[in-house]
Amino acid sequence: MSLATHTPGVARYIAAAEAAAQRRAADLARMRACRFDTIAVHGLYTMQEALDFNQGSIIEPIYMATSQAYRDSDEMEAALAYAVPTWCYSRIANPSLYYFENVLALLEGYQLTVETSCCATASGMAAIDAATEPFLARDPRRPDRPFNFVSTCQVYGGTFQLFAARKMREKGVECRWIRNSADLGEWEERIDDNTRFLYGELPSNPGQAFFDLAAVAGLAHRRGIPLIIDNTVATPALLRPLSFGADVVVQSVTKTLTSSGFGIAGAVIARKNLTCHYAPEDLRADFAMYLKTLPNRDHGPNLSPMNAVLSINDMRTLRSKVDLFSRNTMQVARFLEQHPRVERVDYLGLASHPLHELASRYLFLVDAEHDAQYGQPVNRYGHLMSFRVAGGVEATRRVFDALRRIWRATDLGRVKSVATIPAISTHQQQGEEGRALADIPGNLIRLCVGGEHPDDVIADLDQALDAVDGRSTRVAPSAWSIGGASRALGDGDA
Ligand SMILES: Cc1ncc(COP(=O)(O)O)c(C=O)c1O
Repeated sequence: MSLATHTPGVARYIAAAEAAAQRRAADLARMRACRFDTIAVHGLYTMQEALDFNQGSIIEPIYMATSQAYRDSDEMEAALAYAVPTWCYSRIANPSLYYFENVLALLEGYQLTVETSCCATASGMAAIDAATEPFLARDPRRPDRPFNFVSTCQVYGGTFQLFAARKMREKGVECRWIRNSADLGEWEERIDDNTRFLYGELPSNPGQAFFDLAAVAGLAHRRGIPLIIDNTVATPALLRPLSFGADVVVQSVTKTLTSSGFGIAGAVIARKNLTCHYAPEDLRADFAMYLKTLPNRDHGPNLSPMNAVLSINDMRTLRSKVDLFSRNTMQVARFLEQHPRVERVDYLGLASHPLHELASRYLFLVDAEHDAQYGQPVNRYGHLMSFRVAGGVEATRRVFDALRRIWRATDLGRVKSVATIPAISTHQQQGEEGRALADIPGNLIRLCVGGEHPDDVIADLDQALDAVDGRSTRVAPSAWSIGGASRALGDGDA
């Protein structure tokens, strides 16, 4: 915006903001030149920033405030025109979110020549909705023209419901499912002139589906449409989809990015100048900023500052955690693979997995070649795997109920190992037909291996698999908690 169109008071703020923008660009350039771990530890929160604006605090501030005060009406006017840096109101932006967004933009854009930006959301589902909805706007020139989007059917159950129920059933937008995402011919068949975007989850939860990302990005771009990838399971420590041509990445930050399990968070990270032949210029130029300042301002799915800083803290050690979890998962998968009571194990790291070779072209521990421990690129396959129990659904439930150390919860990406039966939990609501489509049978247990020693996880699985013979494994509730609280002991309890 030209200074001439503003009053002198407003123009003064805009001129000062230009100097600040240069300082930010220099900070950004310095950080982009650092290695992944350094970016994860610091992001854009510098010592200078702490000394100048945050009492010297070495940890990013949590601004639990609804809104920002302005020095005078000139600053307010400049801010509300988005002509100077501002956070304004926490439904739109917030300083704690600023640090969160920048670290994720840098990590997903690591060593990429194009610029990236990020918009924080209150959850992974809010990120998926925010990332897809703008591409499903009616075309004002042809308002009656139907349109569709193409997605892998092997996606998280919430995503399946969002696409099948919310978008398809309630809004009449056609979602065309890809059954076998590794088959490029199937993608090609589903795309037509009315396709708005392609969507995939890599690797998929829980089935470990995987596809040739660069080839699918090529398909999308030949049609002038964007590719959106859910990178929750791999995280940027193993895969950076934008570097293979994807336009937008969504993250359930709730999961592996944070791993401590303190709260729900999400993010949309996009390359600037993304491919989309039908979208307005401002959407294409900086999609994440477009979301932040327009649709998300109006829909309001913003992240709490507290969760932003808790997430920042967790993400500092992302690479080493993902390395540890991946190595542990590999050991557990090998144990399960040879167990007589296990019918099948799906883990991309196993040489026996049909997609192992394809996944091995994509999933590398970032910076392993600069790590004294490895000194060369190493494949890592993440912490999510699934296995099918021999003997059917009842036997599967007995094994599941017998777990003692592995937590039964509909969760993943934790530092604690967690298991679930997707058919009765995360993927229950998509129904028998939807589960058959995505190959999620009732005897499949999804297991996310955490940071415990793998021997102890294996021991727990080993004793639980013994429960297939039907012996009872229920543990009676105890009368006292280890912290000292007793249950009420009525007459009947004695
Ligand atoms: C792959 C994947 N994407 C998205 C989500 C949704 O994230 P959230 O629970 O943060 O909304 C999940 C949740 O399990 C997931 O596993």
